Amino acid sequence: MVTDKIIWVTGGTSGLGKAIVQRLAQQTNQIFVTARNSENLEQLAALAPHRITPIVGDVSDSASLKRAVDQIKMQADHLDLVILCAGTCEYQDGATFNMDMYRRVLDTNFMGSVDCIQQAMPLLNGSVERGHIVAISSLSSLVPFTRAEAYGASKAALDYFIASARVDFPQLDFTLIRPGFIDTPLVKNNDFPMPGLMSAEQAAEKVLSAIVARKRVYNFPFLLSTVLLAFSKIPGIWGNLVAPRLVKKDVL
Ligand SMILES: NC(=O)c1ccc[n+]([C@@H]2O[C@H](COP(=O)([O-])OP(=O)(O)OC[C@H]3O[C@@H](n4cnc5c(N)ncnc54)[C@H](OP(=O)(O)O)[C@@H]3O)[C@@H](O)[C@H]2O)c1
Repeated sequence: MVTDKIIWVTGGTSGLGKAIVQRLAQQTNQIFVTARNSENLEQLAALAPHRITPIVGDVSDSASLKRAVDQIKMQADHLDLVILCAGTCEYQDGATFNMDMYRRVLDTNFMGSVDCIQQAMPLLNGSVERGHIVAISSLSSLVPFTRAEAYGASKAALDYFIASARVDFPQLDFTLIRPGFIDTPLVKNNDFPMPGLMSAEQAAEKVLSAIVARKRVYNFPFLLSTVLLAFSKIPGIWGNLVAPRLVKKDVL
């Protein structure tokens, strides 16, 4: 159980982030939640006004993020835990490269996470325990999936960044979470089978257990992650035999 912590959750108004915030708010935590949509933030905060502080902040816009972190600094002298949930998913569309889409996905999922970490670091260094950063990546970073050029790359970049940051900032704990499919607005347009699909509440429970255990890396669900991890060790088989079978014939 996560209790008595000062926590910042990005992307906490929907899906996985919202389910995490709701669980954290059941304990004596002080939770700062950021996202872009102020109405959704206010609605979430109304569920536990004494525990949840809503703050507008766009992770892909450094100035907006700085304003958000300045508001956290006015209300807290440190952070114990930062959970980076803000994310977006858009797919490669046939043979057309949409560079704006690539920038949106990379700026939100990768650059946004890096910016959050650099802006939160002074506050995390003030934690009486070891400051803890939790980054939500994806199982898609383990093996290449059709049409996931931008999304998969953003999460693979995040994986590498966290592994490197762990070396360079030994005063902090880093937990990298790679979920499989979670039933949230992010996947509502997925028109392919999603093995192991779970609810946001189930996923939040798993993420919180990994946080309490301060795991370095946590992949779930077990079966899907075990299969994908095995294929990641033998990339030739995935790349030559499995991945091409997942391509929809009418797309490329
Ligand atoms: N769902 C899955 O199957 C799945 C699987 C693996 C990994 N993940 C990862 O889990 C995380 C949460 O995903 P989800 O499925 O819960 O998605 P979601 O329901 O779409 O929620 C995304 C959250 O991120 C916020 N957000 C998006 N862009 C933002 C930006 N530029 N600045 C600040 N906040 C932003 C959204 O609020 P605003 O729009 O108001 O900003 C919202 O609160 C993501 O990193 C995603 O990649 C999801």
